[in-house]
Amino acid sequence: MRLLVCGGAGFIGSTFVRLRLQEHGDEVTVLDKLTYAGREENFHDFASNPRFHFVRGAIEDPEAVAGAIAACEPDALVNFAAETHVDRSIAEPDAFVRTHALGTYVLLEAARARWGADRAGTPRQGARFLQVSTDEVYGSIEQGTFTEQSPLRPSSPYSATKTGADLLVESYFHTYSLPTVICRGSNNYGPYQYPEKLIPLMILNALHGDPLPVYGDGMQVRNWIHSTDFASAIGCVLERGRPGEVYNAGGPDEQANLDVVRRIVALTGAEQSQIRHVSDRPGHDRRYSLSSEKVRALGWAPGVGFEDGLAQTVAWYRDNAWWWEPIRSGDYRAYYERQYGTSLG
Ligand code: NAD
Ligand code: TYD
Repeated sequence: MRLLVCGGAGFIGSTFVRLRLQEHGDEVTVLDKLTYAGREENFHDFASNPRFHFVRGAIEDPEAVAGAIAACEPDALVNFAAETHVDRSIAEPDAFVRTHALGTYVLLEAARARWGADRAGTPRQGARFLQVSTDEVYGSIEQGTFTEQSPLRPSSPYSATKTGADLLVESYFHTYSLPTVICRGSNNYGPYQYPEKLIPLMILNALHGDPLPVYGDGMQVRNWIHSTDFASAIGCVLERGRPGEVYNAGGPDEQANLDVVRRIVALTGAEQSQIRHVSDRPGHDRRYSLSSEKVRALGWAPGVGFEDGLAQTVAWYRDNAWWWEPIRSGDYRAYYERQYGTSLG
């Protein structure tokens, strides 16, 4: 397949690109704005692959999108491009609105021009536009598990703008017969994740002897999926999903934040005394939980359990200082001070 992967320089996007190049023989063009979270370092092991191409540009820029499509003539477009950190969405929501609302609209228009219904109104076969989404669109759930039929009740500017993007994608299926699919993942972890998210932040702070800032009581629960498993779920939905449908992809394990942090302390040899309870996140969702039966029926299953995956992830960060040192010594320090009111050691 020839793929246009928007946001492919980020954590999950680059994992997906690696998988498609190495295991599926696809031709992949990445379109990415390279925000603070998008990094060419994430291409390090496939940058010289002749089937890989990179275009720097924003999804909200119609010329950049049209140029990328003309250059690679894709069979399908996969959209990972997003602002992804809930805390940043609380502090500065504007980029979230721009990228998720305007950016997704620009991509949908370009996709409609390429793959919309023909003049007779006949919808084309096969998924052509895959929107990568999140369990956070369903909001928080005390007990039980969300399915694709659950109501959408997002609670942060991040999840609300992601929900808006999902609804716009669905409207292009219903209105223009654009063959869209949506794949919603639970909390991802693994190599190449920017250290503003819980797991990489705690690993790097633990390795450096810095405090481990747990929001509130730390009993919020997340459903963890390894990024290689989410990438394979997205590939499965792209190849076998039915246009117009949504597919959830949740990880095999749920875990309270404090238990995750305690495991990281044990795996890194840090001290329990590094754990600090700090002010809670405003509007903090208590629990996420996602049922994946629909994507499992397409033949997907997660391959990495949380215990092994977390140990492998800790080992990756320990062994790959070349990847995170430029981040931890750069603008990230100012972000950290603004967010946590304290400096890194
Ligand atoms: P990330 O922050 O690591 O990467 C996002 C990428 O998008 C970066 O490369 C960035 O440069 C690019 N980008 C941002 N705005 C852009 C724009 N306007 N134009 C072009 N490129 C732009 O994020 P991630 O964790 O890899 O998440 C990827 C997708 O998966 C997102 O859509 C996110 O909502 C979804 N998702 C993430 C998780 C998670 O736990 N990380 C869980 C479920 C779903
Ligand atoms: P995060 O990785 O930001 O993902 P999300 O908010 O999308 O679930 O946070 C995961 C959980 O960890 C969430 O309940 C907030 C919590 N958390 C902390 O307790 N401390 C931190 O420093 C961070 C970044 C997150």
